Amino acid sequence: MSYTSQSILRFYQLAWPLIRRLDAEFSHGLAVKALEMGVVPKPKKVDNSVLQQRLWGLEFPNPVGLAAGFDKDARVFKPMLEQGFGFVEVGSITPQAQPGNPKPRLFRLENDGAVINRMGFNSEGHEASMARLKKRNGRHGIVGVNLGKNKLTEDAVADYEIGVRNFGPLADFIVINVSSPNTPGLRALQGPEILRELLTRTKAALNAATTLSVTPPLLLKIAPDLTDEDKADICAVAIECDIDGLIVTNTTIERPDTLISPHKGETGGLSGRPLFEASTRVLSEIYTATKGQLPLIGVGGIEDGQGAYQKILAGASLVELYSAMVYQGPAMAGRVNQQLADILKAEGFACVADAVGQGTA
Ligand SMILES: Cc1cc2nc3c(=O)[nH]c(=O)nc-3n(C[C@H](O)[C@H](O)[C@H](O)COP(=O)(O)O)c2cc1C
Repeated sequence: MSYTSQSILRFYQLAWPLIRRLDAEFSHGLAVKALEMGVVPKPKKVDNSVLQQRLWGLEFPNPVGLAAGFDKDARVFKPMLEQGFGFVEVGSITPQAQPGNPKPRLFRLENDGAVINRMGFNSEGHEASMARLKKRNGRHGIVGVNLGKNKLTEDAVADYEIGVRNFGPLADFIVINVSSPNTPGLRALQGPEILRELLTRTKAALNAATTLSVTPPLLLKIAPDLTDEDKADICAVAIECDIDGLIVTNTTIERPDTLISPHKGETGGLSGRPLFEASTRVLSEIYTATKGQLPLIGVGGIEDGQGAYQKILAGASLVELYSAMVYQGPAMAGRVNQQLADILKAEGFACVADAVGQGTA
């Protein structure tokens, strides 16, 4: 049986007083279990040609994707695609299984429409996700794999090389994540020399691993907390290494003065509404610096179709979200898409691609 996104969203609203009383990570686990068991109602498909886009040779039914971190171990990409997301990014996945940081490590900042997490790459490891993705056999929609490194690995680049070798033949796109704030030393990989080495080696490993299959696009996910020099260096290295796109941005270690929720002082990465402005600014800067040569995925604080539209105007070809879903439930993908389609049409755009970067000077 299928329902409208609107009725499922209403159901989530009714259940919210109960959900909010549960520990945030426990609720996340329940949601993943329910999705795996197929007991989450599926919204009716909304077909809207204005949202379709061909990028990297892939046909995106809509530009609204699920950001990394929700489906860390590739358990629920299929049900999440069925919720209306145009694509799903699973991960971050580390080569070896690791537990991540001690709990509690995930906090809702309800009054701020935000989340703070210091999960620290809890991952079942490559083997477990590979087994699940193998069963997919290229079906169900577009699934990207976000790669992380194990906490104790010293040769970080080697972890990403193993990642592209293992997932290159299984993923529709690959993301090198060097921007999570909860793994010591990870964000230092955004520095120009080490980044050049990282991208050169992973690109070579990916090409070698996919000689018999299609080579998926290689993307880099960056932090919002970067200096102008950092951003200029990243753009230059990304173009020099000929990678296929950037994901802008991960969570922030900044704490805006506007936060009012009790958990605002927790250590970790902040995401959701208070990240929207900063991450959209970085997106627009990166779009301008790369002169639109690199497709960008805009992520950070999207709550509705207007937020997705603002990211597209700032230079995003695709967008992703996670935190708003904590408050609205997974069926929000359908609503964001419907609102985005309405806005694009009202603004006179025939397709998403026509609107990309139109808000940058
Ligand atoms: C609980 C949680 C876990 C996350 N884990 C990852 C991760 O493993 N890898 C990653 O690249 N980003 C991770 N992220 C960051 C999101 O993918 C996204 O970049 C960020 O939350 C901003 O988007 P949002 O404001 O829509 O949540 C995580 C975010 C949250 C809230």
